[in-house]
Amino acid sequence: MRHIISKEKLLYGGDYNPEQWLDCPEILAEDIKMMRDAHINTVTMGVFSWSALEREEGKYDFGWLAERIDTLYQNGISTILATPSGAKPKWLADKYPEVLRTDPMGLRARYGFRHNHCMSSPVYREKIYEMDRRLSAAFGTHPGVIAWHINNEMQGACFCPLCQARFRIWLKDRYGSIDAVNRAWNTAFWSHTYNSFDQIEAPMANGELMLHGLTLDWMRFTTWQHKDFTQSEINAIRAGGSRLPVTMNMMYDFDGLDYKEFADQMDYVSWDNYPAWHKKPERVTAADTAFEHDFFRSLKRQPFLMMESCPSATNWQSVSMLKRPGMLEAQELQAIAHGADGSLYFQIRQSRGASEKFHGAVIDHYGGRDTRVFRECVKTGADLEKIKEVTGSRTVSPAAVIFDTVSRWAMEGSQGPRNAGLHYRETCKKAASALQAYGVNADIIPAAWDFAYGDPEEGPQFYRVLICPMLYMTDAAAEEKLRKFAAAGGTLILTYWTGIADQTDLCYIGGTPHGLMEAAGVRAEEIDALYDGMSNSGEAVPGQNILPARSYQCENLCELERLSAGTEAVLIYGSDFYQGKAALTVHKYGSGRVYLVAADFEQDLWTDLVRGALREQGVRPILGNGTRSARPDQRDVSSSRKVSLPEEVFVTSRRSGNAVYLFLQNFGRETVRFPFPEEAEVLLGTGGEIEPFGTVVLKISLH
Ligand code: GLA
Ligand code: ZN
Repeated sequence: MRHIISKEKLLYGGDYNPEQWLDCPEILAEDIKMMRDAHINTVTMGVFSWSALEREEGKYDFGWLAERIDTLYQNGISTILATPSGAKPKWLADKYPEVLRTDPMGLRARYGFRHNHCMSSPVYREKIYEMDRRLSAAFGTHPGVIAWHINNEMQGACFCPLCQARFRIWLKDRYGSIDAVNRAWNTAFWSHTYNSFDQIEAPMANGELMLHGLTLDWMRFTTWQHKDFTQSEINAIRAGGSRLPVTMNMMYDFDGLDYKEFADQMDYVSWDNYPAWHKKPERVTAADTAFEHDFFRSLKRQPFLMMESCPSATNWQSVSMLKRPGMLEAQELQAIAHGADGSLYFQIRQSRGASEKFHGAVIDHYGGRDTRVFRECVKTGADLEKIKEVTGSRTVSPAAVIFDTVSRWAMEGSQGPRNAGLHYRETCKKAASALQAYGVNADIIPAAWDFAYGDPEEGPQFYRVLICPMLYMTDAAAEEKLRKFAAAGGTLILTYWTGIADQTDLCYIGGTPHGLMEAAGVRAEEIDALYDGMSNSGEAVPGQNILPARSYQCENLCELERLSAGTEAVLIYGSDFYQGKAALTVHKYGSGRVYLVAADFEQDLWTDLVRGALREQGVRPILGNGTRSARPDQRDVSSSRKVSLPEEVFVTSRRSGNAVYLFLQNFGRETVRFPFPEEAEVLLGTGGEIEPFGTVVLKISLH
């Protein structure tokens, strides 16, 4: 079922902590006036409010929150209400030390910090259940409350005896017998065989860290613990009578949890976005952020919410550089360009004390409207209103990149060819950047998701090109889906270090890539790892017609492939003892084809290969290449002129009924001109030109 984030407006606002200002009514009143001036329509409240809501055990005071929700609502501002489980009151930890988390050395924490409760503790679960149920009963049907924000940035594990006991139960459910565990983890290695489930301990820092299957299952269990804890909070909300959607705020490139497991639990996905703009060229940071937006949108294949972002500089990065003029709006609109239905800040008003007192906010310590940041927030809010009709529209992607957290855990947790870095995420990003360079939307999906070859207009799981870099861990289902994709006519791009191990990290025997050797027409014989600074190259084979006739640099990992009859080399290695052997292959399989990239190549190879693959599939860029396509998602909107946009310009689109919304964002330092599609209506910006950090939003109506 599809859950609506918002009906007719893009959400705009952010975290708001009035509990820090309850003795300053004039400030609370001013906050609302300033929010209205900034076009803010949504706040997130209650994230860390437990001690303000239950100052002493069992003594609840919701009066201040009720008053805030009412007043905000009367002023046209909705509330996303958080459950306060992300930080606990002191009385709770003092009276019930079991709620404190135990670290990997077995040491129980003292009170302090946040995001550090034990997920198994019956007391913690009971106390938060009661709190959530009461919050739901009090506010869950209030017209000013629009969603539930569960916990905050869930993370980490607890190694206490309660958690370890639950781990053993979880293992028993999964494996049934201890012999099955021993087999799955290959415990005969170094004599680590278990005789019973009671003997199993979590992978502690001073304990068992060499059984990869154990570590992997502990990560899966930790994900399950957070999901189970979250479910108890959702149950409390439902028991209190609220039917409102629930969401949780996920984090940038966070591999401590397998986020896909939460997709069905969440009504919509949210994430917190804190790019360090200016540390690298802005287009590099923009591509990195785009990857995350596309990943989070693809978790539910629906509009998502950017729950947090910073209006100016954070205070926790090593150097807190100010956002240059225009960056703030570019950052907020980038979320919308990639399918978000709202962009929120952390936070509305800057706190006066403790660890976030210098963190950027819409309203700073000075407190006035005449600040650069406030003015930019006002403009961004006004611009979001101009494009509000994009709310609810969807992102149609002709291609996807598989980015798989569990496979990443296994690959990066193994001692293997390159402990100095396998560069998994970087490789996936190169593939995504290639799609962006061509100018099409991209989905970033886990291997477990549905995908099939076909017209993306028919459903979000249909793609023309599927890129599957370094899928170290596979199972029969994933292998079969990949084979079917190619056989049905798709272009599948695989790489080195694929199909190496099964779901408990036991290496496949009989050749790799497991389940894909026939489809790819290769068997990986060996993999060479290079030291940092070393490189090899791939030289285009005369007669191949997918790449320009040139040489591409590769580094880090070079796999040596044995080709079956019918498989062609597109690139061959340029040096070393494997000079002349295939570095990129292509193999026709069913109605489609499978490419296998054998080495860690530079971006240019990815850009050229992906361009060739998309062209072969007849996929056109969103913004023009001088030809028209019958397929609406690929319709060329630039009519007759050839378009060549610099790499700093990002083009994405969203669809709703007959309307296509085009987003062009310039993450470069120069103004860029582009041929304006005559049939387009300008919703934002100027037709035909984009300033540095500017955004143009165009609407095209398809007839
Ligand atoms: C995270 C948290 C917020 C706040 C911000 C600061 O995203 O969820 O509570 O601490 O970081 O950047
Ligand atoms: Zn615990």
